[in-house]
Amino acid sequence: MSQVKKIVNDEIFEWIKDIRRAIHQWPELGFKEEKTAALISRALKKLGIKYQTQIAQTGVVGRLITNENAPTIALRADMDALPITEDTGLPFASQNPGIMHACGHDGHVAIILGAAAVLNEKPPEGNVVFIFQPAEESEGGAKPMIEQGALKGVNVIFGGHIEGHYQVGEIGIKTGVHTSYTDYFEIRITGKGGHAARPHEAVDAVIIASQLVVNLQTIISREIDPVFPAVITVGYLRSGSVYNAIADKAVLKGTVRTTDEMIRTQISDKIRRTASSLAILYNAEIKVILKPGYPPVINEETAVKLAIRAAEELVGKEKTISIPFPSLGGEDFAYYLQEIPGCFVRFGAAKDGHEMMSSHSPKFDFDEEVLRIGAAYMSELTRHTIKKLRKY
Ligand code: NI
Repeated sequence: MSQVKKIVNDEIFEWIKDIRRAIHQWPELGFKEEKTAALISRALKKLGIKYQTQIAQTGVVGRLITNENAPTIALRADMDALPITEDTGLPFASQNPGIMHACGHDGHVAIILGAAAVLNEKPPEGNVVFIFQPAEESEGGAKPMIEQGALKGVNVIFGGHIEGHYQVGEIGIKTGVHTSYTDYFEIRITGKGGHAARPHEAVDAVIIASQLVVNLQTIISREIDPVFPAVITVGYLRSGSVYNAIADKAVLKGTVRTTDEMIRTQISDKIRRTASSLAILYNAEIKVILKPGYPPVINEETAVKLAIRAAEELVGKEKTISIPFPSLGGEDFAYYLQEIPGCFVRFGAAKDGHEMMSSHSPKFDFDEEVLRIGAAYMSELTRHTIKKLRKY
């Protein structure tokens, strides 16, 4: 801890805590992060770091350039909030009704600005690009940021996520595949409406939808090799309008999570096959719409080694967690890693003695000490990586 305090002094810590709270109070949805972008711009300006705004609509990129020919490291934060009504009772709770920073992205911005402040005080012998990207929770801001040049000249990229499953002070790192494909599906059933008392004259969309939900789960349990992680979740199901009529239509929406391309294709095929079989079985029409989501985050080996070493030096071996399994969550940091090597880490942020509130919950909150540790870690990791790259 003393090491962390040496790297991120009280002044910087207070500054980034204020930033986090200001962003928390005025959360904005994906591609609408205007106030957030303005706040980031002001912070970079105060530090004297050059920056560009309106990249991928609301994104901001800061550049700390010390030597054009030296290695360049990028640090990335996402900026967007979620359509959730906050119920934390915090003094700096959301002032935007129905919108909340329930995933810690307010903290991510503060962490990267903290790292910027630290690195700016004593610039490394290389360059650092600070990427603040919109819309991680919705359509994905990473891809348009890349298309608009955010990674230009960058050799290695790092990012991280606040993580309630680990105690504050712990840093979690996963080698290789870290998150999953996040594909979307929608299934539209068209039967035939009718009187509740005369089912033989109708085709009941509710029965078909119910069968479909159960059959989708047996794809996972009976048709996929169990050594591969896979999930199908139907999160949305709508049908019917009144209790005494047979519904003619039903709509299901959900997500398929996999970490392997082959399993992903198998599941898509099986969803289509299940739907068309049920259509024949029940004399209905069933339309399946599949849309690809984010690809998996795949952490690169050398970047992982650097990330582990930096964590062990900063928080110690016991608090450097080797994450054993991939998460079936999604993260559009994956797109950066399709372009250049890098690593995505987890910043432990559980509040001591508090029940863990999962992210995307209206009660989500984290221990702000993570801001200090995260900023110290990202700046140290940057220095380590620049040193390593300069050797070649
Ligand atoms: Ni998130």
